[in-house]
Amino acid sequence: MANNQLHVTLNNGVEMPAIGLGVYQSAPEETTEAVVAALQTGYRHIDTAAAYFNEREVGEGIMKSGVDRAEIFVETKIWISDYGYDETLHGFEKSARKLGVDQIDLLLLHQPLGSDFEKTIAAYKALETLLTDGRVRAIGVSNQTPAELDELISRTEILPAVNQIQVHPYYSQPEWRAANVRHGILTQSWSPIGGSYTYGGFDKNPFEEPVITALAAKYGKTPAQVILRWHLEHGFSAIPKSVKPHRIAENFDVFDFTLTTDEVASVDALDTGVRGGPDPDSLTLESHGVPIPE
Ligand SMILES: NC(=O)c1ccc[n+]([C@@H]2O[C@H](COP(=O)([O-])OP(=O)(O)OC[C@H]3O[C@@H](n4cnc5c(N)ncnc54)[C@H](OP(=O)(O)O)[C@@H]3O)[C@@H](O)[C@H]2O)c1
Repeated sequence: MANNQLHVTLNNGVEMPAIGLGVYQSAPEETTEAVVAALQTGYRHIDTAAAYFNEREVGEGIMKSGVDRAEIFVETKIWISDYGYDETLHGFEKSARKLGVDQIDLLLLHQPLGSDFEKTIAAYKALETLLTDGRVRAIGVSNQTPAELDELISRTEILPAVNQIQVHPYYSQPEWRAANVRHGILTQSWSPIGGSYTYGGFDKNPFEEPVITALAAKYGKTPAQVILRWHLEHGFSAIPKSVKPHRIAENFDVFDFTLTTDEVASVDALDTGVRGGPDPDSLTLESHGVPIPE
């Protein structure tokens, strides 16, 4: 299955498998086996973050899987408590050490720090240094509003390759996606199958949505597979999370069917404009600046 998966090309030419395993809220004791299951299923892309507190277990899973490190696209994120130029360089060292890798394939700033954007800029400049020094293969951001993206780009040298944002059928963020497209930045969808509906904000389950269940019946696929295919038709990367091997396999079995343009539009029309969870710009160092251990 590994051979027919789709890849996306980042704006610096680096190739990334479009579907990766997300590990937010994967308990450390479940993360290693989830990573092993994903890599043995054929995934070659894992998305973690310093603030998920499971980078070490991701590294263990990579080692235990038997898959060559060079075949795996490892993505992680610097948390806001490590923003600032020197702090972010150190944040990279902490993540690389825990992951057991010399080089990280894609390193993101996890959040804009709206209350101290100067620190966000300084952190991004550290990512630029890491890229120039070959310690990372690509750099990017997450949860950046169109205005923040404009400001960051105007004040730094290297275009982010990725903006990882919440995108699923009930909250598909057309304005943010358009801003990413305008700059040539890839949209990577977090909570791609609607996991964020459990964070609060709206009370619908996309797996029970008639538009999606009808497409699932038509193609002999599950609702999760239809939704993941919708991300792929848009050209996004998506990083569904599961710790259950059968769901990990299900979420990767999306490369043998396509949706028509009209079907993609019918899923687009489900957007409610209601986000799951807090507004990323509301996070501050005081409220969310949990330290990242060595
Ligand atoms: N940048 C950010 O700020 C940010 C924020 C949130 C998430 N993320 C990233 O995005 C990834 C995915 O987001 P997410 O975890 O919020 O949501 P998600 O991937 O949309 O959904 C995950 C939830 O769906 C369940 N699930 C997975 N596959 C399923 C299937 N085939 N059928 C039914 N249920 C299924 C999972 O439970 P089980 O594990 O029990 O299967 C989990 O409860 C994260 O892991 C993280 O890497 C980034």
